[in-house]
Order: sequence, then structure tokens, then C-alpha cells
Amino acid sequence: MWTREQRYRRLEEAAPEEIASLLETVHACPFRQTFHIQPPMGLMNDPNGLAYFDGYYHVFYQWFPLGPVHGVKYWYHMKSIDLITWIDEGPGIRPDLDFDSHGAYSGSALEQDGKLYLMYTGNKRDENWRRYPSQCIAVMNQNGEISKWQDPVIPEPPNGYTEHFRDPRVWKEDGGFWAIIGAQREDLTGTVLLYSSPDMKTWRLEGELKTNLPNFGYMWECPDYFELDNSGVLIFSPQGIEAKGDEFQNIYQSGYLIGESLNLLSREFHHGAFKELDRGFDFYAPQTMVDPNGRRILIGWMGLPEIVYPTDKNGWAHCLTIPRELSIQNGKLIQTPVKELEALRKQKVEIQACIENESKSFLGLTGTTFEMKIKIENLDAVECGIEFRANNTKKTVLKYEAKRKRLILDRSLSGESVGIDYGTIRACSLESELLTVHLFVDVSSVEIFINDGEEVFTARIFPEEDGQDIRFFANHGSMDMTVEKWAISRYNGQ
Ligand code: FRU
Repeated sequence: MWTREQRYRRLEEAAPEEIASLLETVHACPFRQTFHIQPPMGLMNDPNGLAYFDGYYHVFYQWFPLGPVHGVKYWYHMKSIDLITWIDEGPGIRPDLDFDSHGAYSGSALEQDGKLYLMYTGNKRDENWRRYPSQCIAVMNQNGEISKWQDPVIPEPPNGYTEHFRDPRVWKEDGGFWAIIGAQREDLTGTVLLYSSPDMKTWRLEGELKTNLPNFGYMWECPDYFELDNSGVLIFSPQGIEAKGDEFQNIYQSGYLIGESLNLLSREFHHGAFKELDRGFDFYAPQTMVDPNGRRILIGWMGLPEIVYPTDKNGWAHCLTIPRELSIQNGKLIQTPVKELEALRKQKVEIQACIENESKSFLGLTGTTFEMKIKIENLDAVECGIEFRANNTKKTVLKYEAKRKRLILDRSLSGESVGIDYGTIRACSLESELLTVHLFVDVSSVEIFINDGEEVFTARIFPEEDGQDIRFFANHGSMDMTVEKWAISRYNGQ
């Protein structure tokens, strides 16, 4: 059990020997990833401050350095010119002032006058452990030096809202600055507040965004708003949504609303239904950025709060998803892996086969870290699917029930278990037939893009090291398939 003192111990208080020994424990972990951003030690959570700035993609993330638990949070900083090779910039924002003494919580970035402004939540607690959130600004120059403004720009939650007031998303529009901030009303329902500012220093509360979800969970974390393909998109992570059929199965949800552009004057946002961004087990608090090519890129936290993971015993927890490009089709947010990831491809294997009432593997088609694209044609089997990271006893299974157009990700036999309180399968129904399956498998994760991003399943898995087999099956009928698979090699020594 981690005591409060241990959770709120700062990196700066740890002796070099303690850090060296923690790093050694982390490096001995069989589940370290090869092509995902992961913490050097300790716990990572939300991606923060995503931005393309000064020729680099910048990704910060929430970080507790000294162990695999939620404690005093830092922002850790990574940057990249190509979204695949990441340069480790070390701690970005440290919780070293009174107003952020209990954590530099999540926030976002905005470029202005050649600098990157990082707006985040200062989390402070008093001796009775009461929480005092404020919204704060740190500024990064082109040398990567970050300095904080000495006072919060929004010192406290407005009247009518509780101390759950955090995760500012800042942007520039119509000559002014705007921010949306996740909040909880005093009646304990979640919402998003809109603020405006002429200079990022003084902020005025405009009021709540007017959505048609007045009573949807008890807190909306990590809101993000942007315009894409002539629509307004609001992403957020609501807490307190009941599971319903295949939906909302995780402890907390993250999803989106698509609508007309947000009206900043009336704060009205006319939108369609809330849809989940991901159908897997481990996905939360995503954030987006736009790059010079106008691409809207999303990165999520591949984890969830309050769940014990097998890497904990090695002193670290969680990673980020691969970067995904967003688009809108038929009122749905479509996610596809950014094309830069193709540069990681090694040793291609290609197979064309008909699978009929059997489970079949192919010589040379095995692997622990790989990308695989499967195109399915002439499917008349009642069910079909793929098993991967498999050996004689363990496997992760993606199964398709053709009649119901239902896909099921089953990690009950994946290996070391994660958070079984929330079940071992995740499922969703497709609007069309199953046509393509695109997998990115790392040492301890899988991301599966269905039908070019119509649905995505993201999950951590903790398989055995010799679990390299890949099998395809079709029951009560057959399917034709074309498979392309590439090994993915380590991009750095993280
Ligand atoms: C979401 C979250 C945010 C908060 C941060 C603290 O996972 O709870 O609301 O800012 O994590 O680490």
C-alpha cells in the first residue's frame, strides 16, 4: 500500500541511487513497449499539451515519477519530427509552486508569438486534504525552456461548481482566446465551462456549453473542441455513465459529440448522440492537435484510473496510443493510424488463403511486435477471427459473428490479467460487413482498426514471451483473406 506521503514525494527528493534502482526494475520488465510512448519509470496518464510547434510534434503527459500509482503529477515532455521517433525532453512542468503543489494536472497548448503556451490545472490540497483547483499558464520558448506565470489565471472554480474543475483546452478564434474546462455542478453532474480572454491573462466566464446532455455522468474530464470537415467536434471523458449492452463497459468512458460549429456567443452546441471513441479495454482522456498539413491527430492514454496492471510490480504503468488521424464519415469520427507509422515496417510477409471450417497458421507468419492488415472477402462462415500473441495455452482473440455483424475482443486467455472486475471481453456491432482488420501489436498492447477506422479496439495485453503464434479461423463456412504483415522493430531504447 502506498501512503499519502509516498504518493506526494517529489522526484527532486529522491536520491540518485533510488532512481537508478527504480530504473533497473523498470528495465527488467518483460512488458516494456517498443513503439509506444511510455514513461521511463512511474505512472503516466493523460496526454497533455499536444502541439506542432517550431518544427516538432510535442507530446507531454501526466507523470508521477516515483512509482506505478497516482501521486503528485508532473508533465513529462517528448518531441518528434515524424511522430515515430521520440526525443526525450525530460520533465516539462514540475509541481513546484504553492498553487500546483499537489500536481500539475492536465491541460493543453497554444502557439502564440513564437512561444508555446501551456494552460494546465494547478492542483493544491490543504491539511484537511481539501482540493483547490486553479487554471495556470507555463510558457515554453524555442529552446524548450519552460517558465511558469507566478499566479493562476483562473484562481478558483466559479460559484455553483465544485472543486472538480480542471483540464483546460485553450484555442484562438475571432481575435481572442477561448478555453473550455471540465467541471462538476453543485448538483454533482458533469459539464464543460467556456471562458474567454483577450490576452490569456484575464479570463471571463461565459457559462456552460449548452449541449443536450444536461445530466450525463458526474464529471466531464479532459474536454477538447475542434472543427473538422465542416463540423464541430467535442471530445470528453465523462465519469459515472452506466454500462448499457456492449457500450460503456469500462470504469470511465471517453467519446465525442459531432454537431454544428459551436456558437461562441450563445454557447449553443447542436449535436448528435454521444459515441464512444474506442471499443477496447484501455483508452481514456485523449487529446488532439492539428499539424501544418491540416491533419487532426489524436493520441489517447492507453490505460484507465483505478486499475492494477501487471507492470506495477516493475515500477511503471501505462503508455500512450499510436497517433491516429481523424476524419468524419457518416456522422462518425473515423480514426486511422498516421501514415508515418509505415516507416517502422520491416520484413513483409504476404499471404492469400481460404480458411474453411478450420483454424490455421502459416509458416513465417508469427510475431510479438508487428503490424498486420487483413482484407476479408467472400465471407460465408458463421464466425471467423484471429488469434494472436498465442502459444499452446494463451491467446488474444478477435472474433466476428457474421449474422449479428458483431465483433468481440476476448482477452480472458491473453496472459497476466488486468482489471478483471470490468470483464474480459469487449464487443461492438458494425454498421456494415467486416471488410478489413488492421492491427498494431506491441509487446504489451494491441490496437485494432476495423473497416478503415469505423471502430477501434485498444487494449493492453500481457502475454507470455513465447506467445508469437498467429492463427486464423472460420467456423461453419469459409472466408477468403489477404494478409500483409510487417515486423516492427524497436525505435529507441526507452
Ligand atoms: C484524467 C485526470 C484529469 C486530471 C488528471 C490528473 O485522467 O483525472 O482530469 O487533470 O487525470 O492526473
